[in-house]
Amino acid sequence: MKSLVSINDLSKSEIVEILDMAALFEAEPNRRLAEDKVVASIFFEPSTRTRLSFETAINRLGARVIGFSEVSNTSLSKGETLKDTITMISNYTDMIVMRHPLEGSVRYASEVSKVPVINAGDGSNQHPTQTLLDMYSIRKTQGSLDGLHITMAGDLKYGRTVHSLLMAMSHFRPAFRFIAPRELALPDEYKKYLKQKNIRFEERVELAENITDTDIVYMTRVQKERFSEPMEYEKLKNTYVLRNSMLEKTKPGMKVLHPLPRVGEISEDVDSNPKAYYFNQAKNGVYARMAAICYLFGINSI
Ligand code: CP
Repeated sequence: MKSLVSINDLSKSEIVEILDMAALFEAEPNRRLAEDKVVASIFFEPSTRTRLSFETAINRLGARVIGFSEVSNTSLSKGETLKDTITMISNYTDMIVMRHPLEGSVRYASEVSKVPVINAGDGSNQHPTQTLLDMYSIRKTQGSLDGLHITMAGDLKYGRTVHSLLMAMSHFRPAFRFIAPRELALPDEYKKYLKQKNIRFEERVELAENITDTDIVYMTRVQKERFSEPMEYEKLKNTYVLRNSMLEKTKPGMKVLHPLPRVGEISEDVDSNPKAYYFNQAKNGVYARMAAICYLFGINSI
């Protein structure tokens, strides 16, 4: 039984295998390969894309889905522990997809559960299936994952998608540029990780002048829900706004990605630019999640 809690639970070859499988699902999404399975979708934190794309993936695989997206409707609100909740859900189902605000909570759930657990985002820590769809999108638009220049901008402190993605892309010899205000800079543990792997990176503060030579601009939202001081969020929330005019001098094949939701950091005038890829990126989430579910179920002949 294998869970997917951190992107580092997958090797490079496993990531590539899942991306290859995702391409087959994009070509033909309706494959009822998991008709005998029931999957729990349990979200302790709001979500639009992750929950609905997982549930779409589960349905397209012919499996059935149970779950909740509102904790107040569960016995957790009566004081039941997370341990008992996960134990019960793993008695009912064949897999659990879980989002939770607390870092480490999904790892804990995977240790309690009798069935595989997929991390759909735990606090500021990890969002491994977002990484799979990000990598699928990068490979699809750039033709390869190898040797790319990737610029990540915004909230690099609390943005879990950034943390997962930089770890996984490190298998493919990238060069990173990190653009953030000092208060939201990439935490030292991730810089140490990259140094240990001899991955090149540089840190910058300005956005416009630092995106002309890059293959991917990965914008992120300032994560309001992680701030203890509302005034600090107000001060930082509009630090970066990517505008259409800023894309004029960028590389012809460059793509703008964003895990979404956006709350102003990409101007709407970017949406019609062919370099904008974030809505396609979110759509790719269905195929990447179908592939991840199949992989963890041991279904590999699709
Ligand atoms: N990218 C992402 O995790 O979006 P949601 O919060 O809407 O699931």
